[in-house]
Amino acid sequence: MSSNNYEPYLLLGLLTITILACSISGTMGSALHGPCDNDDACGTIDTECQNGVCVCRENFTVLYDSCVPMAESRVHCTKKNDCHKVLGVKSTCTKKNQCVCKQFHHLHLGQCVKNRDLHETCDHDHQCYCGVDCQLKIACIHKNCSCKAGHSPYKSRRCISDQQLNSVIEEPRTEEFNLLMQNDGVPRTSIDCYSFSIFLILTILY
Ligand SMILES: *[C@@H]1O[C@H](CO)[C@@H](O)[C@H](O)[C@H]1NC(C)=O
Ligand SMILES: *[C@@H]1O[C@H](CO)[C@@H](O)[C@H](O)[C@H]1NC(C)=O
Repeated sequence: MSSNNYEPYLLLGLLTITILACSISGTMGSALHGPCDNDDACGTIDTECQNGVCVCRENFTVLYDSCVPMAESRVHCTKKNDCHKVLGVKSTCTKKNQCVCKQFHHLHLGQCVKNRDLHETCDHDHQCYCGVDCQLKIACIHKNCSCKAGHSPYKSRRCISDQQLNSVIEEPRTEEFNLLMQNDGVPRTSIDCYSFSIFLILTILY
């Protein structure tokens, strides 16, 4: 059998993965360094909107595609062991010689603790994490990281106060934000996501 027989299936499979991946990234909000018109438009935890771009909040820094907390007293390091004394074993040393928590960890009493996302199991409130601005809105309720009373899940991973939820829905879009969108309200980044992935698939196949 020639390998050509597999190509239509391979193509179909790759296209399905592309559509799923691109649409999931779209519903999660704008990625780190993606376009935004307010902080809520940024989907990555611990990012904020600055000059129309999602960037890491103050005291956070980029590690791969996440924003991770830096040590409160800026510790200079050359290897991760330098950081373990300060932040615990779930820390690492960045290329810029800063001690930070590893990806998907947050600071609790000065130590890096693994994040339990909204609706993950938990034993203590401090394990539940939905961003530094969200810390007071989430708690471990019946061993389930849940939004506290008066708050609701927002964009699948965060908790937002019920009043804020209403204002976010009604908030008008700024002109700057509209410029970053196509006419139908699909962010340019997700159009780029589709076109880049399809380009990649075609390059691999032909
Ligand atoms: C950032 O860290 C500095 C030094 O620890 C602190 O003084 C400042 O309040 C922090 N900023 C925020 C927004 O937490
Ligand atoms: C936590 O609660 C949510 C909402 O009730 C539920 O969908 C989810 O499955 C629960 N998670 C666990 C780990 O029990």
